[in-house]
Amino acid sequence: MSNFNYKIQITADGSPSLELIGPRNTAETMHSKAGAFEESLYIYLRVVKSVVEQDLPLSFYSLGLGLGYNEFILISYLISVKTDMSQLKIVSSEHHPELIDQLKLTVQNHSEDRENISPIQACYHQVIKLCTEYFKISKTELYTKVSELIQNNQWEFHSALNQSCLAKNNIRFSGIFYDAFSEQFAEDLWQEKFLTEFLKTHAAKNCIVSSYAAKGTLRRALEAQGFQLKKSSGFKGKRESTNAVRLN
Ligand SMILES: C[S@@+](CC[C@H](N)C(=O)[O-])C[C@H]1O[C@@H](n2cnc3c(N)ncnc32)[C@H](O)[C@@H]1O
Repeated sequence: MSNFNYKIQITADGSPSLELIGPRNTAETMHSKAGAFEESLYIYLRVVKSVVEQDLPLSFYSLGLGLGYNEFILISYLISVKTDMSQLKIVSSEHHPELIDQLKLTVQNHSEDRENISPIQACYHQVIKLCTEYFKISKTELYTKVSELIQNNQWEFHSALNQSCLAKNNIRFSGIFYDAFSEQFAEDLWQEKFLTEFLKTHAAKNCIVSSYAAKGTLRRALEAQGFQLKKSSGFKGKRESTNAVRLN
């Protein structure tokens, strides 16, 4: 069951993040306090660029929808470089169904009165605005493309990733954004055995994986599945991040 209790935080680049309050008042913030938007660009845009540059199938898996930065960056980039999106497939998984619902409402009602929207919808609008400014694309174009992708099921939303959904689902992706909460809050998602199975099930033959985290379990699972790790610094002051490619 989702227990959705949150606070909105404004990070150093002015972009919003959410702090989710868990049981016993534990709190996990979704992004770096140094800048949610900048961090998402820094860690995840490289996946999108590599997939496009290598002309790989446009299929992306995003673990942890959150405020949708990674997905909006992905779609905005593709619009900005005028990529044909007819074959684009995005699967986002999210533990809190409230976030999926709020994102869909944001997109459905985007041209209507903004005074009565929820704080989360205001965050989604803000993320979209940041993307349109950064990629120099029009808001109408982005909202229209996103609603088209959702309507066509080219952008699908799945519930929380766990061991049992791995067995049921074997779609393979060219690009993977591994943007899960830390091990303290999502222990299972960082176990080497789980990561190995996840990659076996979901990584395409040529696949690019990125994560803000540089955990040994993730690195070992990637290497065991034939990925090469590229040396990648972390975002603003973090020593490392994970950026891996499989070339075969
Ligand atoms: C670091 S935040 C992701 C930020 C997000 N990618 C963005 O662009 O704003 C982690 C997200 O993972 C979600 N989450 C936690 N456990 C999950 C699971 N097992 N499967 C999918 N999402 C999960 C959290 O609710 C949270 O939204």
